Amino acid sequence: MIHLEKLTWDNYDDVLKLKVSKEQKKYMIQNSECLIQGFFAMTEIKAQVFPFGIYLKKKPIGFMMFARNVPWIKKYFGSIGKYYYIWKFMIDEKYQGNGYGKEAMIEALNMIRSFKSDNIEYCFISYEAENTVARNLYLSFGFVEKPELYENLGEMPAVLKL
Ligand SMILES: CC(C)(COP(=O)(O)OP(=O)(O)OC[C@H]1O[C@@H](n2cnc3c(N)ncnc32)[C@H](O)[C@@H]1OP(=O)(O)O)[C@@H](O)C(=O)NCCC(=O)NCCS
Repeated sequence: MIHLEKLTWDNYDDVLKLKVSKEQKKYMIQNSECLIQGFFAMTEIKAQVFPFGIYLKKKPIGFMMFARNVPWIKKYFGSIGKYYYIWKFMIDEKYQGNGYGKEAMIEALNMIRSFKSDNIEYCFISYEAENTVARNLYLSFGFVEKPELYENLGEMPAVLKL
C-alpha cells in the first residue's frame, strides 16, 4: 500500500503540510526546512540529496530524504561512495502507528539495495537517543548503533550492512 515517490517541482508541496506531534517536534525540523537544508547541502558541499514523498495509494503521508557524500559521515566511512544516509524520515501524526513507517523503511531499503551499480555497502541513519519508537524501528531492521560516534554527530548513529 505504501510507496515512495521522488519529489519534483510538481509534487514537492505534497510534503510541506505534513506534521509530527507536539512531543515529536524535538526529533525533526519541518519538512520545508529539511528541503532547504538539502538544497544547501547540494550547492555548498556537493552532497547528493534525494527527497521522496511517502504515499498511501495517492495520499501523501510522510517524507524521507536520502543523501550521499555528506562530510559529517565521510569521517566514518573514509570514502564518499559506499553508503546511503537516511537523513530525514517522518510519518504524519495522523497516520502513525499503522505499520506505514515500517513499510516505508522496507521500500527505502529495497530501493537503496537496487542501486547496485553504485557499490553501496551500508545504510546510515541517526536519531535522538530518547526517540525510542524510531530507535526500535531501526534496530528491528538490523541497524547497529555506533555510540563511539555519538559526539561527532550529536545524535545516535546506526549502520546497516546491506
Ligand atoms: C518513527 C516514525 C517514522 C514511525 O512511523 P510509524 O508509521 O508510526 O511506524 P509503524 O506504525 O510502522 O510502527 C513501527 C513500530 O513502532 C511502534 N510504534 C509506533 N508508534 C508508536 C508509539 N507512539 N508508541 C510506541 N510504539 C510505537 C509500532 O508498534 C511498531 O512496532 P512493532 O514493529 O514492534 O509492531 C514516526 O513515529 C515518526 O514520524 N516520528 C516523528 C519523526 C521522527 O522521530 N522521525 C525519525 C527521526 S530519526
